[in-house]
Amino acid sequence: MRCGILVAAALMAAVLSALPPAAARRQGSAGPPMAHPQLPSDYPIHFTVIGDWGRRRLPDRPTGYNQTRVAAAMAARAARWPSKKADFVISTGDNFYGIGLRKDKGGVNDPQFTEKFTDVYNQSSLNVPWLSVLGNHDYGDSAYCDPKEPDYRPNEISDPFAQLDPALQKRDPRWHAWLNQKLTLAGGKVDIFMIDTSPFEIWYYPYCFAHWGLNTQHWVKNLAWLDSALAASTAEWKLIVGHHGTVSSGKHGGSALLRATLEPLIWKYKAQALFAGHDHTLEHLHVVPKYPDEPNYHIVVSGGGSKRNSKFGTPNKYSIWGGLHEGFAACTLTSKALTVQFFSLDHAGGREPAHNATIPRVLLKGRSPHPPSDDDED
Ligand SMILES: *[C@@H]1O[C@H](CO)[C@@H](O)[C@H](O)[C@H]1NC(C)=O
Ligand SMILES: *[C@@H]1O[C@H](CO)[C@@H](O)[C@H](O)[C@H]1NC(C)=O
Ligand SMILES: *[C@@H]1O[C@H](CO)[C@@H](O)[C@H](O)[C@H]1NC(C)=O
Repeated sequence: MRCGILVAAALMAAVLSALPPAAARRQGSAGPPMAHPQLPSDYPIHFTVIGDWGRRRLPDRPTGYNQTRVAAAMAARAARWPSKKADFVISTGDNFYGIGLRKDKGGVNDPQFTEKFTDVYNQSSLNVPWLSVLGNHDYGDSAYCDPKEPDYRPNEISDPFAQLDPALQKRDPRWHAWLNQKLTLAGGKVDIFMIDTSPFEIWYYPYCFAHWGLNTQHWVKNLAWLDSALAASTAEWKLIVGHHGTVSSGKHGGSALLRATLEPLIWKYKAQALFAGHDHTLEHLHVVPKYPDEPNYHIVVSGGGSKRNSKFGTPNKYSIWGGLHEGFAACTLTSKALTVQFFSLDHAGGREPAHNATIPRVLLKGRSPHPPSDDDED
């Protein structure tokens, strides 16, 4: 019996070691994750947040739908910090449109990585670690694999987990991307939890693009990981980064599935803020529950890395500021507060903040700035 198990284990080990790491990663398992980069060891911490960015630059759109203009504005802002650079950049996903790095373009050798990342963010103030999650477009898009779609391109196949491969750091050492990862800063006073939110959108699963890797992931696993990572955290700041937000006023309007699954963990562990993209907007929301003593949290939607959406929705009741903007967020974190400046190309060309938010570490109770109202049933 015991011998049988040992034989089985040895066989399994042999099979696993025979698998090339990339193939193992394609199963959504194995594959050594990227190493934790060097991050600030004390306050104040300065970083920018950008999402939904990697575009092709073509003769008729040389800025790649304003990706290069947002990049220049972000670089200029980062250069104004005392060290003349950001400490790091957070990417909220949808890194390479339309379907992420591609198998048919060589996966980790895909030239898109250079064209849409390395060559666009080449300023010295952004020559710092980039910390990224995957967005739904990094997993694929049905338009490419559905013969009924006008954009059907059967030979273009997504390689979502290529973005997680440490081999990419040989091409550009700034690059870091994970599915689910905790990053610890400031000697343990700050924990950033990166989480892969696409698997929570379970309605993606019947679509053809789910077969490129999404269907090897499971939201239950991600949620369990986040629950245990938050439970183990002793940090005074708990910040969460995902592609999809819980609430948003943009075209997609936030995720009811994330509100039902992830949001209870934000409350339970008193995480102060969630950074998201997905809607190609900039928005600051303050989610406050019905009763003043219940926990609340802030959402920073920063999905304006390039092409803005064609429409914005009705502002959500939790929305404090937001709109269809190409831009980014610039953040400063101290023990007391997280200040977030939203920069939009529409406001002084992205040279001045269009909105400032101050998020206290000890979240204020109550509904402020929203006046109580009887029809506020939630
Ligand atoms: C780029 O941004 C400007 C200013 O916000 C806007 O007017 C323009 O439409 C954008 N260009 C493209 C190609 O999206
Ligand atoms: C960044 O790349 C652009 C062209 O893509 C080039 O004009 C510029 O000089 C480069 N900047 C740096 C700092 O290398
Ligand atoms: C945001 O704060 C900066 C100073 O940090 C200030 O110059 C600017 O006017 C503020 N902008 C808005 C829109 O409140």
